[in-house]
Amino acid sequence: MSFTLSRRAVPRVNRCELAVPGSQPKMMEKAAASGADVIFLDLEDAVAPDDKVVARANIIKALRTLDFGESAVSVRINGLDTHYMYRDVVDVLEQGGDRLDMIMIPKVGTPSDVYAVDMMVTQIETAIGRKKQIGFELIIETALGMQNVEAIAAASPRNESLHFGVADYAASTGARTTVIGGPNRDYVVLTDPAADGSRQTHWGDMWHYAIARVVVAARANGLRAIDGPFGDIADADGFRAQAMRAATLGCEGKWAIHPSQIALANEANNPPAKEVDRARRILAAMKEAQAQGRGAITLDGRMIDAASVRQAEVMVAKAELIGAKANRAGRA
Ligand code: GLV
Ligand code: MG
Repeated sequence: MSFTLSRRAVPRVNRCELAVPGSQPKMMEKAAASGADVIFLDLEDAVAPDDKVVARANIIKALRTLDFGESAVSVRINGLDTHYMYRDVVDVLEQGGDRLDMIMIPKVGTPSDVYAVDMMVTQIETAIGRKKQIGFELIIETALGMQNVEAIAAASPRNESLHFGVADYAASTGARTTVIGGPNRDYVVLTDPAADGSRQTHWGDMWHYAIARVVVAARANGLRAIDGPFGDIADADGFRAQAMRAATLGCEGKWAIHPSQIALANEANNPPAKEVDRARRILAAMKEAQAQGRGAITLDGRMIDAASVRQAEVMVAKAELIGAKANRAGRA
């Protein structure tokens, strides 16, 4: 290990991040009962400019009156380039009560954006004597944000997670797509002709670089990496495939922009029981090996060593966090 250790963000189950417009009180009521790991009440892009003020009031009321059960609750404020943002922070924190866990900052471009919101939140928390510290969820969804992602990830001890906002990222980078997430039939590799002249088309994942970069910046700073929205609500298989690609790269959750995507996101981000079982066996086998003074052994015909222990510990810790949340929800 490096002498520099990453600070770990507050441990939270974040397989699913459910988006709900603050302008829709009925949807917020439904979301509160959904059991989604994290619910974010939106003041930004899902709310029309004329509805911003009423959405803010709706969210404050929802935070004070709805029972969100075991879900963590976040509010997505407006961007720092708007005149709504300061009042989003002030009113939601001053009037929303204690239930709120996090603030989601959209379109973060530089570490100073995080610093500015941190400064406001810190002042308000102190002024109102808030005991529970607000965490930050940061959306990386612009070329500027991606360029500065490492510094952004390290910008505040409040930071908990980095989210890849594929729709705005596509707009900001000028990517040739108008759908939200998923593959693109123009992003393919055409193989050279085979002996019979035939050629194959292999689909690539145009978001691979962006997601991998967000994952590395997040993990290097002890944060959760979360994949953003998938727009085709009717395409469960497409959602699953996108979620699995992100999870395989190290994301631990994905947005749901419709309640039907909650179970899909959970499923993709639950560590498979078989792998958790193998992880536990790795830990047991290595404990025994170490007691005998051995650093590497074979298990099921595969070599395992101290790195396998670290992988297994991550897997088991995640399964235990998810299990503990399910137990709490079962008891409630
Ligand atoms: C999310 O905010 C996105 O732009 O994809
Ligand atoms: Mg966006």
